Amino acid sequence: MIMASQIMRRLLRSQQANSPARVSSLLLGRTFSTESNPIVATLFPGDGIGPEIAESVKQVFRAADVPIEWEEHYVGKEIDPRTQSFLTWESLESVRRNKVGLKGPMATPIGKGHRSLNLTLRKELNLYANVRPCYSLPGYKTRYDDVDLVTIRENTEGEYSGLEHQVVRGVVESIKIITRQASLRVAEYAFHYATAHGRARVSAIHKANIMQKTDGLFLKCCREVAEKYPEITYEEVVIDNCCMMLVKNPALFDVLVMPNLYGDIISDLCAGLIGGLGLTPSCNIGEGGIALAEAVHGSAPDIAGKNMANPTALLLSAVTMLRHLELHDKADRIQEAILKTIAEGKYRTGDLGGTSTTTEFTKAICDNL
Ligand SMILES: NC(=O)c1ccc[n+]([C@@H]2O[C@H](COP(=O)([O-])OP(=O)(O)OC[C@H]3O[C@@H](n4cnc5c(N)ncnc54)[C@H](O)[C@@H]3O)[C@@H](O)[C@H]2O)c1
Repeated sequence: MIMASQIMRRLLRSQQANSPARVSSLLLGRTFSTESNPIVATLFPGDGIGPEIAESVKQVFRAADVPIEWEEHYVGKEIDPRTQSFLTWESLESVRRNKVGLKGPMATPIGKGHRSLNLTLRKELNLYANVRPCYSLPGYKTRYDDVDLVTIRENTEGEYSGLEHQVVRGVVESIKIITRQASLRVAEYAFHYATAHGRARVSAIHKANIMQKTDGLFLKCCREVAEKYPEITYEEVVIDNCCMMLVKNPALFDVLVMPNLYGDIISDLCAGLIGGLGLTPSCNIGEGGIALAEAVHGSAPDIAGKNMANPTALLLSAVTMLRHLELHDKADRIQEAILKTIAEGKYRTGDLGGTSTTTEFTKAICDNL
């Protein structure tokens, strides 16, 4: 137990210094209101289990006296022609105005004539980097005890450009776009992140042996940025080899930067190393100082409305939001209570092998504050 609390303290210290949100605020030179001034933040509870886990965050924030006023926006029932998606223009305006927010999972409605909700958010708010810290949780045993890495995913282009069409019957094309501007921007962020967090290595993940032009350009940009950071070790790893290395020994990696699709896949793989999607937070960094924290899992329709969801990922994402706002005392208190609750093992949700409901787990966290 002493050992566990030592690890927890070390983790908290490193999380505080290393939070992606903190780096973004350092990079953008932002200052924020103090605790006496409530800060308005946008909240998208989202779909499926989203409202249940968003309620957990609100409860924990209330119990910890966090000076946040939520501006809540739900996904619309009809397509808003101004966004061509189910996300309303007003909700996007809310994030642009507040510059900070928390997002629950959003189900992608099946159909034509509208954009994916997550893609709309990324494109409209120019959320160019998705940062996912991934670290072993003290007290929650997985196959690996020493995971401590960060994936930084380019979020705006690559295979997710949304440009697909049929060439002739039976032949379709999907266009992968890589630009110098977006590649330099995400590489710059990755190296700044590594520097600000005292991390030693940045690995660019690619498949440039096959996609020589697109991934080739991505690598060229990473190399250019790497030259400005001689103190950081820079390496390039082919994506398939990267997967094998991650599964064999995740401690080989530190900060990983990669194009969109690879980032989507690798970051979920990394979530699996530490216990699953229910535990993994993330933060989207946008131009103009926007930080939109979000849980990486989906809306989990199989358990929605059953009071079974694990709110940890959204709670830890909310913690990164607090760090972005420089509310480190509150962030530490909440993070410590979450980790303590999981380490104690008395209250755990089903995905962690326990039998607690979302409500019971949330109450245990509040009691541990
Ligand atoms: N960022 C996002 O908003 C996002 C991400 C992924 C998927 N989605 C959407 O979510 C919907 C469902 O997707 P999916 O089923 O492929 O993935 P999912 O992440 O919703 O679920 C995968 C599995 O993990 C479990 N799970 C996920 N989060 C959990 C949590 N917090 N606690 C306990 N168990 C949890 C689910 O019960 C399910 O068994 C789809 O419409 C998809 O488009 C949204």
